[in-house]
Amino acid sequence: MKNKSIIIGSDHAGFQLKNKIKSYLEELEFSVTDIGCYTEESVDYPVIAKELVQKIINNEFERGILICGTGIGMSICANRFKNIRAVVCSDTTSAKYSRLHNNSNVLCFGARIVGESLAKDICNIWINTEFEGNRHQKRLNLID
Ligand code: RB5
Repeated sequence: MKNKSIIIGSDHAGFQLKNKIKSYLEELEFSVTDIGCYTEESVDYPVIAKELVQKIINNEFERGILICGTGIGMSICANRFKNIRAVVCSDTTSAKYSRLHNNSNVLCFGARIVGESLAKDICNIWINTEFEGNRHQKRLNLID
């Protein structure tokens, strides 16, 4: 990412991993905006997902990361919004191709699915891979 500014959010299930990913991104010199949650108290993931995607839609941020138990609830909610391309990734290859071919702008993963080390690798490849455009842009245009 040329723009080293990113937004991150989680529910209670993703809270611990979110803190680790936030520190990791800051080590990589990203400016990280954390929209919560801020404790392990139970919180509803759609509230967090909606707040994060709204800031992407408003062009306050180019891309964001959402973490819940599985990544699934966050991605279902985020993908309800036009121009949001959220992906659940549990492997680095999906993370890479979600950028190259799908221009994903929201990365979701599950704290109950991936460990810290894999989550960092997934984030690293996702933030460092650019969209290929061309025929892939044509296909994205067909979605809407
Ligand atoms: C919370 O228990 C859990 O349902 C949530 O974090 C997420 O995995 C939903 O998809």
